[in-house]
Amino acid sequence: MLAITLVTAGIVSCSEENKKSESAAANTPQEKQYAVFDANDNLIRPKDYRSWIFMGTSSTPKSEDPNVIFPDFQNVYIDPVSFAYWKKHGEWREGTIIVKELLRAGDTNSSVGRGHFQGAHFEVAAQVKDSKRFPKMHNGWNYFGYADFKKNKLNETSMPLGVKCSSCHNTTAVDGDVFYQFYPVIQAAKGYGDGNPENENTRLGLVADYKYKADVIDFVKKQK
Ligand code: HEC
Repeated sequence: MLAITLVTAGIVSCSEENKKSESAAANTPQEKQYAVFDANDNLIRPKDYRSWIFMGTSSTPKSEDPNVIFPDFQNVYIDPVSFAYWKKHGEWREGTIIVKELLRAGDTNSSVGRGHFQGAHFEVAAQVKDSKRFPKMHNGWNYFGYADFKKNKLNETSMPLGVKCSSCHNTTAVDGDVFYQFYPVIQAAKGYGDGNPENENTRLGLVADYKYKADVIDFVKKQK
């Protein structure tokens, strides 16, 4: 009984801590800005973004479609304060920065079967919502890219690429600028409020998909 009380008390204080830090982040959305510009509105190449919130990966291997524009994988990250704001309010705050890393295709075989696996990184791109700085851009979003393919390195800054990039985003992204339809993490978080959707125990796809379960159990049995 004593042990249970202690454990319960531990859980309560821990979740209160979480709530405190979450609302602190959401109540001060303007405080920390992750997008850094120089005097000419060039965006300094974002740093440390692999420690931000991971939105997801899209996979568009050239082997599947020779006409694909951005081969072969895109890993996408959003700054944590803007993610907290999105979770609280269901909209993108001013200053939101989303970074996309592009990767070549790597192996096509693994111990679980054939597929597409990630290879070398070759480009860092970003989009930033800043309506004051970019009043002519749709909802204030502008776009940036850093690869210098001739020198095989990343540049330190990028000029705003504007309509060169925005055309698809403005026309085919479901929420008007960000490809919301490709990021379940972003869909689940939209306006969720306090707490985190990944802590819920509903995983309908997995529970319903007995075939998937049977395949895994079969595989594990064969290993014995
Ligand atoms: C031909 C259409 C098209 C053009 C042009 C385009 N994009 Fe995108 N972009 C997409 C699609 C589709 C996705 C989501 C799936 C993916 O990553 O391929 C995306 C995703 C992104 C993302 C991740 C966040 C999001 O909105 O989903 C960033 C950042 C991004 N693009 C930046 C750029 C930059 C910088 C340029 C210009 C160099 C650019 N895009 C040009 C179609 C385009």
